[in-house]
Amino acid sequence: MRKASITFDRAFAIGDTDPRLFGAFVEHLGRCVYGGIYEPGHPSADKRGFRKDVLDLVKELGPTIMRYPGGNFVSGYNWEDGVGPVKDRPARLDLAWFTTEPNSFGTNEFIDWCRAAKIDPMLAVNLGTRDGDAARNLVEYCNHPGGTAWSDLRIKHGWKKPHGVKFWCLGNEVDGPWQMEHKTATEYGRVAHEAAKMMRWIDPSIELAACGSSGRNMPTYGRWEDEVLEHTFDQVEFISLHTYFNNYAGDTKAFLASPDLMDQFIEEVVAISDAVAARRRSDKRIMLSFDEWNVWYRTRRVRADRVKEGWPVAPPILEEIYSMEDALVFGGACISLLNHADRVKTACLAQLVNVIAPIMTETGGPAWRQTIFWPFAQMSRLGRGTVLKAIVKSESYQASYFDPRGKQDLYYPIDAPYLKASVVSDDKGVSLFLLNRDLEGSLDVTVNARGFGKLKVAEATELRHKDLKAVNSKKEPLKVKPASLKGVSTKSDEITLELQPASWNVIRLES
Ligand code: AHR
Repeated sequence: MRKASITFDRAFAIGDTDPRLFGAFVEHLGRCVYGGIYEPGHPSADKRGFRKDVLDLVKELGPTIMRYPGGNFVSGYNWEDGVGPVKDRPARLDLAWFTTEPNSFGTNEFIDWCRAAKIDPMLAVNLGTRDGDAARNLVEYCNHPGGTAWSDLRIKHGWKKPHGVKFWCLGNEVDGPWQMEHKTATEYGRVAHEAAKMMRWIDPSIELAACGSSGRNMPTYGRWEDEVLEHTFDQVEFISLHTYFNNYAGDTKAFLASPDLMDQFIEEVVAISDAVAARRRSDKRIMLSFDEWNVWYRTRRVRADRVKEGWPVAPPILEEIYSMEDALVFGGACISLLNHADRVKTACLAQLVNVIAPIMTETGGPAWRQTIFWPFAQMSRLGRGTVLKAIVKSESYQASYFDPRGKQDLYYPIDAPYLKASVVSDDKGVSLFLLNRDLEGSLDVTVNARGFGKLKVAEATELRHKDLKAVNSKKEPLKVKPASLKGVSTKSDEITLELQPASWNVIRLES
C-alpha cells in the first residue's frame, strides 16, 4: 500500500474562504430555467412556478451566490425583454444556443427565486451586442430606490424594494469567437471600463468582474488578461476564469490529474493581475472569480448541430450525465479552489439544473442528484473557514492531459501526486478534503494536525464505486452516494486513515 502524509498547523493559513466561493450558475440554456428551476404546472411548483423539489435540492447543495442569465446567452440578451407583464414580453431568437427564448422568466423572477433559495444574485450584463448604456440602465432598474424612470418601472412591475444586487459580471467570454459581438482585448477593455464606471456611479457599493479568458487554452490567454486589466484595473475588483475538464482521450489517470491545471491557471492569472498592479506601483490586488467550472465534454454541440435542430424552446441540450469518475475530478477541482482561497473569492459551478448540472429533473417528473452533487455539497457545508497550508507528501504519477479546444490540440504534461488535499479550519475543528487518485491501490495516510490538541472524528465519508462509469439516474437516484469511511483513528494530534482507490473523502475532526 502506498503511504502519504499531510502536515498542517492551525497558525499557518492560506486565507479565509469567502462564502461566495460556493456559487453556481443559471443560464437561459436548455432546461436550466424552463423545466429546471421554473416549471409552472409541475406538481411541486408554487404559484410563481418555482419547483419546490428543485429548491429543496438546491438548499441541500448549498450554493451561496447564483450567476445569471449567462453565459453565452447574455451576449445577445435585452434585459428589458424579461421584465414587465409576461403576456407583453417578446419571444426572441437566441443566437447563442439556436433556440427560442420566450422571456417568461426574467430578472425579477430570478431575484425572487434567489430569495426563495436564500442565495445572493450575481448578474451578468450584455457587453456583446450591447454596451455600457444598457448595463447602467439595468443597475438603475435593479438597485436604485425610486424616483427615476428605470427604478419606477421596477416598482410599477411589482418590486418596490430595490434588488440590491452586489456582484456584476461585465459580459461573458468576450474573447471567444463563438460569442455574439466577440471583441479584441482592446475593444472589450474599453467597453468594460466605461460600463463599469457608469454602473458604479449609479451604485458605488457594487463589485465588478472583468472577463478573463474563456479557457487557459485560448490562443490569446495571458495577453488578454494583461490588456483587459490595463484598461479596467481601477474599475474592477475581479477578473474571471472558466474551465471545463474532459476525458475525450479515455485516459482516466490524466483526467484525474487535470484539476492540477486549475491550480496553474489560478496562479498564472494572479501573477498577471499582480504584474498589472506592479506596473502601476499599486497595492490593490485583483481577486479571481472562477465563475464557470465543471466537467463537460460529452454534450458539447457545434453550431452546425444547433442549426439543424431549428429554434426549439428549452430543448434538452447539454444534459451531461455525470459518472463516479467525473465526481472525482470535480472533487479535485474543489480542492484547487479551496487551496487558493486567498485570491479566488468567488466561483460558480456551471451550471445548476439539467445543463451540465449537479441536479437533474424530468419535466413533469422527479428531480435527483448527480454524482458531482456530493463533493459540492460537502465543500459548501464544511469548507467555510480558514484554509491551512497543508504539506502533502505523496508519490506522484506522470500524466498527459489532452485538451482539444479550438484548432490547436494541446497535451499538458502533469506530475500528479496520488493524494490531493485541502484542509479548512474553524473555531470547532478542521475539515479534510482528500482525493486518492490511485486507481488500483489504497493510500495509507498519516495526518499531523498541529495546534488543535486532541481531535475526535465528528464525520468521515467516502465517495467511491467499483464501476468508475456508474451514474445516478431517475431509476437509481442514489447509486453513487457517500458512505461512512471506517477506520479513521486519532491519537493526540496524529490521525491515521486508509483511503480506498479512486475515492473522494471528507473528514471532519473536532476538539
Ligand atoms: O456553461 C455553458 C457555456 O460555457 C456558457 O454559456 C459559456 O459561457 C461557456 O462557454
